[in-house]
Amino acid sequence: MKLDVAFTPAEIGGHAGDRTVVVIDVLRASSTILEALINGAHAVVPVESVEIAVARAQEIGRDQCILCGERDTQPIAGFHLGNSPLEFTAERVAGKTLVMTTTNGTRALALGGTGARCVVGSLLNTDAVARAVRGDQDVLLLCAGREGRFALEDALCAGILARRVMAGRRRSDHQLNDAAMTAMLLARRFEKKLPEAIRRTSAGRRLVELGRGEDVEYCVRADHYDRVPVVRDRRVTL
Ligand code: MLT
Repeated sequence: MKLDVAFTPAEIGGHAGDRTVVVIDVLRASSTILEALINGAHAVVPVESVEIAVARAQEIGRDQCILCGERDTQPIAGFHLGNSPLEFTAERVAGKTLVMTTTNGTRALALGGTGARCVVGSLLNTDAVARAVRGDQDVLLLCAGREGRFALEDALCAGILARRVMAGRRRSDHQLNDAAMTAMLLARRFEKKLPEAIRRTSAGRRLVELGRGEDVEYCVRADHYDRVPVVRDRRVTL
């Protein structure tokens, strides 16, 4: 198996190549997408701008559609929901199509979707994702990062996932890039005290500052769900 990690989308250029891609945005896009789909959302449509989101919502039909997302961690004016997983209850999202735009996660999903196969990973479903990709020959763990920069929470999730995928395998039989080896080292260092480590990341501190500390607690619950969202034709479904 060839297992690569990219700490930011910029590391892989404009196309993910003929491989399986796991898109990771722990705080908060991946976690929110999983939560919304578990709560019965029909699909999530990730787009890169507010304008495109409004246009897509019109195409889909306003009564079946929910506009959601954030800019600078804050909800977008005129949208129904922000990007906190706690907002995406079954009452609000069941049967609806969510058109979502966020600063980093939806861009990474657009890129990840150019791969042969693309799934959504988070701390909430790490084990399920590891099982889903373990049999593939060429896998990329694509971290959304934070405005083009390294995000520790995503790197830790990628490291934990890589360790699960490689569990019981001889490293020498497999090809890991430097970022994958680094992410696995970070995971070994922090896995036992993940919530504390993630609260101290820049994204974690920003959410706590904004009074969204409960989002951080929510997104760090390891293996809370046994489901894997799949990206196909720019739509994410379970
Ligand atoms: C993102 O996609 O940039 C993040 O999910 C942002 C956030 O939720 O605050």
